[in-house]
Amino acid sequence: MTLKVGLIGAGGFGTIHLLGYVRNPNCKLVAIASRTEEHARKAAERFGIPKIYGGVDSWKKMIENEELDVISICTPNYLHALTVLKAIDKNLHILCEKPIAISHKELNEIESKLKNKKLIFFTSFQKRYNPIFPLIKKVIDEMVLGKIILVRYYFSHYGPYKSWKPLSKEKWFFDSKKAGGGVLLDLGVHCIDVLRYLIGEYDKVNGINYNTSCINMSNEDNCNVLFRFKNDALGLISVSWCNEPSETIEVFGSKGYLKIDLGKKHSVSYGPRTIKRNELIKKIINYKRSGDIAQYRLIDHFINCIAEDKQESPNFEDGKRAVEFVLEAYSLKE
Ligand SMILES: NC(=O)c1ccc[n+]([C@@H]2O[C@H](COP(=O)([O-])OP(=O)(O)OC[C@H]3O[C@@H](n4cnc5c(N)ncnc54)[C@H](OP(=O)(O)O)[C@@H]3O)[C@@H](O)[C@H]2O)c1
Repeated sequence: MTLKVGLIGAGGFGTIHLLGYVRNPNCKLVAIASRTEEHARKAAERFGIPKIYGGVDSWKKMIENEELDVISICTPNYLHALTVLKAIDKNLHILCEKPIAISHKELNEIESKLKNKKLIFFTSFQKRYNPIFPLIKKVIDEMVLGKIILVRYYFSHYGPYKSWKPLSKEKWFFDSKKAGGGVLLDLGVHCIDVLRYLIGEYDKVNGINYNTSCINMSNEDNCNVLFRFKNDALGLISVSWCNEPSETIEVFGSKGYLKIDLGKKHSVSYGPRTIKRNELIKKIINYKRSGDIAQYRLIDHFINCIAEDKQESPNFEDGKRAVEFVLEAYSLKE
């Protein structure tokens, strides 16, 4: 089986998708579209892609003209839903970058178009592929920590253009029309996705506070969100584009807790001391980060789901629930 893949957005994360597709033996990159033709050309040369499309309508032209099986959408956020809708019309399998949309209207449009379509839709939530999360999930599901009462997810870096290198000269991340939101929409969607995977569905967002403290933009560059899961556990997500890169998850249950640095060190604190006897906790404590790139695992999983005609997570619903979480939090801004 060889799937013909087209990619839109030859930018920073688009390049990571391209690296993922070229190493998958069941894919052939056949076309690339980018706003700046030169960027599409450079990527095409590097990855041996025969067809290039340049310009603001390049994404439309590529979808209309090419006979594709798969599309990867790596454009600025405001173009995700438009591109997804067009790709659904052409019955393409879709891998869409997060956030998959920036409004309820867009989410509803995608949802109704996807109904009765037999295509595979993946949301690019590659953090789920960190092998430490299935271990944490097993600890939670096997009640090693008792009933889960509280979880906190802290995620920060110095923002796009400092800690992360988007390639487009548009600087769209700080343009509220093109980005659709600030740091919560950018990083918060990953946090809520991982927490939904670990703990279960969220119920309600209870509060938000935020400010804009280090970037010249109208949206938030620091943000805290308080919420509650359906199983009554409390949640806190704290994200920042103004702080040193760090990512930590803390899970508190009725019988114990885990605090895990998901960054380079993977240092773990836990309590009470006796839970160290549990084999899963031992694995978490001794876990060593692998060199694997999570996005490659996600792409392999996506392609495998297409080959086996099965829809698994992270799917449209996961992408949708994450955007809905952010929109609910934004609706509470004064
Ligand atoms: N999953 C993750 O952890 C993760 C990490 C980073 C980014 N992302 C997501 O990936 C997406 C892209 O982010 P990025 O950091 O890669 O930004 P970027 O480097 O600025 O890339 C965006 C790309 O989209 C292209 N583009 C803009 N308008 C277009 C149009 N009308 N038609 C075709 N192409 C167009 C740009 O073209 P030119 O450069 O040719 O002008 C650029 O190559 C965002 O949605 C972001 O949230 C996800």
